[in-house]
Amino acid sequence: MKIVLLGPPGAGKGTQAKSICNRYNIPHISTGDIFRKHMAENTPLGIEARKHIDIGHLVPDKVTIDMLLERLKNEDCKDGYLLDGFPRTVLQAEALQQFLESNNERLTTALLIEVPREFIIERMTGRRVCPSCGASYHTKFNPPQIQDKCDICGSDIMQRKDDTEETVRERLDVYESQTQPLIDFYENKNLLSKVDGTKAINAVFESICEILGDEK
Ligand code: AP5
Ligand code: MG
Ligand code: ZN
Repeated sequence: MKIVLLGPPGAGKGTQAKSICNRYNIPHISTGDIFRKHMAENTPLGIEARKHIDIGHLVPDKVTIDMLLERLKNEDCKDGYLLDGFPRTVLQAEALQQFLESNNERLTTALLIEVPREFIIERMTGRRVCPSCGASYHTKFNPPQIQDKCDICGSDIMQRKDDTEETVRERLDVYESQTQPLIDFYENKNLLSKVDGTKAINAVFESICEILGDEK
């Protein structure tokens, strides 16, 4: 199964990705998580990415595409994967398409998690993330069992630097101008499926499982 997850910042891509990847036993590939790991380690890629991420802009296509295609060559991607946060521009979508075609492969689906703008600010400002394992929490909608500690690995959870209200508004504008065109891109290829992302986390996951079915 090869899945692309689409949706605005705060739609719940990361949250649903964890559950989907557990259930279907495929790797969760989040370009945002990969960039954040590089940023934490201050690699050259991390230093470049930080300049864009901290102000809510996209990392340039070339850097992002090279990084992602390299990741897809890993052994663990043989039987499928879930892409969270990639593609985000038409150029990225075309690069992925070319890569798939050159390997005689195709996407199973591009799954759009729809959440209107007015929900997003509250979701983002209440979000807390685990810097060690990437788990995502929310102070109100999805609090950890022990305050400020990750349920999965016990690390201290924290707020992302790009989750301030001002940067979130910028990220939403970037989403609308650069990423929304991908909805048509995948619709034209008959690959788009949509779920209502305003429901509770479990209810959204149930809708996703109905779409994906039992196929592994
Ligand atoms: P990235 O990390 O991908 O950020 P994003 O797309 O803006 O998405 P988020 O991670 O903010 O939201 P999410 O949909 O994963 O929501 P979550 O599940 O956490 O990218 C960061 C940056 O990296 C970009 O801005 C860009 O600069 C760069 N980048 C990454 N990929 C790139 C690319 N391909 N090209 C160029 N640049 C790239 O949920 C949010 C909150 O809501 C959480 O607190 C969660 O607990 C809560 N929540 C989730 N679901 C629900 C629900 N159903 N009800 C109530 N609360 C919920
Ligand atoms: Mg995410
Ligand atoms: Zn953790």
